[in-house]
Amino acid sequence: MRRVITYGTFDILHYGHINLLKRAKALGDYLIVGCSTDEFNLMKGKKAFYPYQERKKLLESLRYVDLVIPEENWEQKPLDIKNYYADVFVMGDDWAGKFDFLKQYCDVIYLPRTPDVSSSNTKNYINECDKISFRQ
Ligand code: CTP
Repeated sequence: MRRVITYGTFDILHYGHINLLKRAKALGDYLIVGCSTDEFNLMKGKKAFYPYQERKKLLESLRYVDLVIPEENWEQKPLDIKNYYADVFVMGDDWAGKFDFLKQYCDVIYLPRTPDVSSSNTKNYINECDKISFRQ
């Protein structure tokens, strides 16, 4: 059993996330997703639209995802890799090089990001549409 682990906020779940999770799962047999908690997002200066419990439920409903765990801080990754017996650590290539220090624990793979979609862009776009429809 080859176990893969990945992390992210996964807010306003979109096809970029699905592409990432599908390819991550294809690298092994069991996919663990560390989903950033609302408290950790605050520390990162981010605020998700959907609360952690809802983002977790959405991720758990996906066929590619076997287990969702909370991502609560920057330091937990080596321990998660050990505790969940992860063989592969995967992130989108917007993080390329940032997690190379994990190569001492498991394989580290950066997958190409899906172009032209992100949670932030979607939120900004909806905000803009809202403003326009208010003006009309
Ligand atoms: N991801 C991806 N392609 C995208 C968007 C995200 O492959 N178009 C990947 C990221 O590289 C990361 C994972 O999905 O490995 C979770 O990313 P997350 O930060 O939650 O998604 P974003 O849409 O980038 O969120 P934000 O706009 O808030 O940064």
